[in-house]
Amino acid sequence: MAVETQRERLDPDLERIARANLKELGDIRIDDVLSFIDRGIENMPSYMDLYRRWESQQWAVGDLDFTLDRQDWLEATDQDRKATLWSHRLFFNGEERVTSTLAPFVWAAPTPEIEIFLSTQMVDEARHTVFFDRWWHEVVGTDAKNLGQLLAEIRPDTNEGYNELFYDRLPSTAQRLATDPKDVDAFIEGITLYHIVIEATLALTGQRFELESMREQGSTDRGFYRGFTAVARDESRHVNFGIKVLQEAVRDNADRFAPLIQRTLVECLPLISGTLDPPDPRYITDYGHSESEILQFAFDSLNKRLRAIGINLAA
Ligand SMILES: [Fe+2]
Ligand SMILES: [Fe+2]
Repeated sequence: MAVETQRERLDPDLERIARANLKELGDIRIDDVLSFIDRGIENMPSYMDLYRRWESQQWAVGDLDFTLDRQDWLEATDQDRKATLWSHRLFFNGEERVTSTLAPFVWAAPTPEIEIFLSTQMVDEARHTVFFDRWWHEVVGTDAKNLGQLLAEIRPDTNEGYNELFYDRLPSTAQRLATDPKDVDAFIEGITLYHIVIEATLALTGQRFELESMREQGSTDRGFYRGFTAVARDESRHVNFGIKVLQEAVRDNADRFAPLIQRTLVECLPLISGTLDPPDPRYITDYGHSESEILQFAFDSLNKRLRAIGINLAA
């Protein structure tokens, strides 16, 4: 393994995004954040590069100000509120689910570098959960006495695909790893599910359309926009990591790992569309988008990640 002491070099545009504080993130577009993931195989960061990015990209939920977000909420139409709640229930609950299931991945990490990176990710997912908790309390308002009660109240109940992904497949894969941390197949399947299906395909697609809608409405100075862009930058590190693990697995043993990754993805495809499908089409069309456009973006993103990993879904 190469000695990992050299700092990664970023071009000036990426350097600006890499270094932006919460306020500056208000001036940054999600598509530019996503370009971290699109840098190509020749620019793959090392695991320790990703760790160093994490060190320099710290942010605090407590530094956000939701005053304007609360005003927007009070002036919003009923329909706008419903659309926002639908999306934020999926995200809030999803962030808690990925926080609670990551520890077995750390235990199962095949190298110390991977173990270190995954430990940083666990802190990130906890912070993302707290971000939504604070938004809920200060913008929507709730009588829930604690986080567990609030999560139980807002648990999404309309998306079958979501239920299967977050309450069945993800915890059962984590359980396989907890039972046998040396189960390499479970680790590769888990990274495919967690980092490629959930983070790269579902979360970043949802974030992209919501942040772009906010930008079109001139709301980039809102606490939510800044915080959610910081979440997306964290996710870009997580997705970089997932691509790298799978790319190395395929390079190492394509006969064993390529079919395993492909099978996992094929099984998850209907769950992806089932999660992105809103109970009311107006939750998407009211903001100038169509469901097919969102699905197209999700599957284009997935295909880009697969090319970087070195596999396709045709097989
Ligand atoms: Fe997250
Ligand atoms: Fe994440």
